[in-house]
Amino acid sequence: MSIRPTAYEFFAGGGLAGLGLSGAGLSGQRWAGVDTVFANDMDPAKGRAFVANHPDIRFHLGDVWSLRPADLPGAPDLAWASSPCQDVSLAGARGGLEAGRSGAFWGFWRLIQGLAVEGRAPRVIVLENVIGLLTSGPKDETGRDFSAVCAAMVQAGYRVGALEMDAAHWLPQSRPRLFIVAVQESALNGAPEASAPSGPFHSARLITAHARLPDAVRAAWAWWSLPVPPRRNLDLAALLEPDESVEWLDDGAEILALAAPLHRARIEAAVASGRRVVGAAYRRVRTEDGRKVQRLEIRFDGLAGCLRTPAGGSSRQYVVVCDGGRARVRRLTGREAARLMGVSDDYRLPGSESAALKLMGDAVAVPVVRALTEGLLLPALSSRRTAA
Ligand SMILES: C[S@@+](CC[C@H](N)C(=O)[O-])C[C@H]1O[C@@H](n2cnc3c(N)ncnc32)[C@H](O)[C@@H]1O
Repeated sequence: MSIRPTAYEFFAGGGLAGLGLSGAGLSGQRWAGVDTVFANDMDPAKGRAFVANHPDIRFHLGDVWSLRPADLPGAPDLAWASSPCQDVSLAGARGGLEAGRSGAFWGFWRLIQGLAVEGRAPRVIVLENVIGLLTSGPKDETGRDFSAVCAAMVQAGYRVGALEMDAAHWLPQSRPRLFIVAVQESALNGAPEASAPSGPFHSARLITAHARLPDAVRAAWAWWSLPVPPRRNLDLAALLEPDESVEWLDDGAEILALAAPLHRARIEAAVASGRRVVGAAYRRVRTEDGRKVQRLEIRFDGLAGCLRTPAGGSSRQYVVVCDGGRARVRRLTGREAARLMGVSDDYRLPGSESAALKLMGDAVAVPVVRALTEGLLLPALSSRRTAA
């Protein structure tokens, strides 16, 4: 019998990275998944969700900067960090990794350095973040954060590579995210690597960001190779609650009236089709003729827009259902958001809708982590010793 590899899960939120790492449903690998043995997050509400869903995993509530290597159990095979992305998000102020919350990455990195001193460094490290990390940094230093993160990993003796993975390959949600994967020499044998960028996960913007990296980082770069998933066979409509069990908005007509002409035409076409057509929409502030105006932006491509953390109510996603010659509007529920992250219905969500939406809006999509685990992380760790 072989012992499963172990992981630390930093910035763990509700523990969705761990759900993907645990690999339910994986087959044909030496191990069926990776076990989280320690998790950390500083948000008490997220911490409650983590503990409710993973009662057997040691969880530390607190700032990552307050942890010391002595607080971390054993020698992990893998460390996962989904460090906060507000400062590197394309939608945010772009202060970069050194700004406020995103600086938390360096709190994580300090722990990795401490583990290395004690001979307990993980063989594989994954940093998940928004795509904005590829270009964030101070003015005139495009990509400095990406470069700094990759350089730190290379200096610590890892080969480093990255993948841009969109949850839409697996789930009906558009959610592109960056996964930087660092692999120690001792685990390189198993890690599948291509000689040049190829396939959907080596996106044009990743290739551009790679070209900006310093020579020493590019010399230690790996184009990790992952199989392309089969075509997604699930669309947004399949994940929704039944119409009769949700609350439709009385002011739906006013919300729909915020649509710009192109989006209004989409709604009219969907209503006129006579079929049931389901869409997802966000309210956004746009500048038109020098004025800021609220606009409803809707998509009918079978996907939800990227789930986000609700801030001031304006970023909560709407569901628009056109049938019977009309269009109805409601808010996406927390359970639906969880399904859009690939979380099964037995996951215990917080009681309040806004807490559930915040939890899911910040999280990493489970099937994406599972695909990364199956295609790259487990193969990389496959040289691990087994117990008799
Ligand atoms: C992008 S979310 C990651 C969520 C997680 N991957 C999941 O699937 O739910 C970032 C998380 O980092 C936490 N966080 C932010 N700054 C932190 C810090 N200094 N120390 C510990 N946790 C922090 C936030 O509370 C948040 O849950």
